[in-house]
Amino acid sequence: VSAVARREEALALLRRRAFDIVLAHLSFSKEGSAILQAALAANPMTCVIVMTGNPSVEGSIKAIASGAWEYLPKPFSASHLHVLVGRAAHTITLERATGNPANSGAAVDDSLMIGRSPAFRSALELARKVARTDASISITGESGSGKEVFAHYIHKMSKRANQAFVAINCAALPESLLESEMFGHVKGAFTGAVRDKPGLLEVADDGTLFLDELVEMPKASQSKLLRVIEDGIVRRVGSEDTRGVVDVRFISATNADPEAAIKRGELREDLYYRLRVVKIHVPPLRERPEDIELLRDHFLTTFWKRHRERGSPKPEFSEAAIRTLAEQPWNGNVRELQNVIENVAVLVEPGSVIQPDDLMLLSEKTAVSPPPRMPTPIDNVPVGEYHPAREQLLAQFETRYLTWLLNRSGGNMSEGARIAGVDRTTLYRLLERHGLQRLPYSGLVGMPTVGDSS
Ligand SMILES: Nc1ncnc2c1ncn2[C@@H]1O[C@H](COP(=O)(O)OP(=O)(O)OP(=O)(O)O)[C@@H](O)[C@H]1O
Ligand SMILES: [Mg+2]
Repeated sequence: VSAVARREEALALLRRRAFDIVLAHLSFSKEGSAILQAALAANPMTCVIVMTGNPSVEGSIKAIASGAWEYLPKPFSASHLHVLVGRAAHTITLERATGNPANSGAAVDDSLMIGRSPAFRSALELARKVARTDASISITGESGSGKEVFAHYIHKMSKRANQAFVAINCAALPESLLESEMFGHVKGAFTGAVRDKPGLLEVADDGTLFLDELVEMPKASQSKLLRVIEDGIVRRVGSEDTRGVVDVRFISATNADPEAAIKRGELREDLYYRLRVVKIHVPPLRERPEDIELLRDHFLTTFWKRHRERGSPKPEFSEAAIRTLAEQPWNGNVRELQNVIENVAVLVEPGSVIQPDDLMLLSEKTAVSPPPRMPTPIDNVPVGEYHPAREQLLAQFETRYLTWLLNRSGGNMSEGARIAGVDRTTLYRLLERHGLQRLPYSGLVGMPTVGDSS
């Protein structure tokens, strides 16, 4: 999500890249529709949701007539917004599924599987074969290797392709929230449950549910999930009603070792075996060097289009840069390569030849992590306007702090949260915001994404 506070910033952002969904606070009295027009010019398939404090019928007709996708009068509730954004996302997914060419280039297509190495091809072949069955699939692989991409691919190749693909990140939510998200709740089940809410299991009915970071799921939730898998019946939190039968295909993923998690007593064995009818392992990038070239070129093309003016000449990699990329350990796998190339796409001159120095590589530095210390001085205090400068400085601080923290805790989230004095969910969110990824075995990899975080 990219957020901007002022119209000029919004227009500048829309000139640089296309968005799938734009939420704009507009008044239609003045030239307020400039953002709407700019968003549609960048990508005609954008769903623009217009929020306005002046909820006149006339205003809403005007907004829709000028190409807005929906109209959201203020004040509105979070759930209204939630539903609307969900519908917009659904619309976009459908348009993509029906192959609407006008929508290409808005994002990296997450069902695009790039790779030609034998190791990657055989994992892909297995995924393709089992996609059309309803078998539960467990995907393992290091962070950034492409587990989620595989999950999307399996869904797209399945008979459920036109139904929902719903993802739950089991690490990102505390237990109570995770359960109400997964199973839903009834009005009054807890403070704040002001109305009945279907859980994601129900939303995924007839479709696919992707359980990301499965081993992070609390044990109590694991038992409840097992019951659903066994009888298909979803019990909303606070309800004994057992009429909610669902038909869901499960795909789970983890970058930890599930068998070790079972031994430690963190993952229920019976649940795991239910979810692991087929196991797919996504090999780390260092075991498939043949794929680096394809991925590198693909990312440069994609990000050049996304970040640069239309028609500006794309740079090329020098021989030395190609060699440097080939020699990296890529502990952060495809995500790390993608970050490095996005960074290049934002920073280098049009039409230039990319040199090794243009590549902001992190692996080497973090592989031999220095003794834990706080890299204190912030080199350059940002100048310019107050708000962006403050944001920039804060982002610098947070990235450095988190880097230190992850080194200190050896990538262990619970330990990191304890040292920082925040809960694990907060830490997880912070890491995500800065594109930092924890690696279970080799410490930390990652870098802040330059420009808009994706
Ligand atoms: N084969 C591929 N082709 C194109 N893009 C890829 C491929 N594999 C991974 N990517 C890209 O790399 C990034 C990381 O992939 P993904 O999110 O699937 O990793 P992951 O294994 O789920 O990581 P984590 O364990 O950290 O959640 C994504 O932006 C994805 O689009
Ligand atoms: Mg993932």
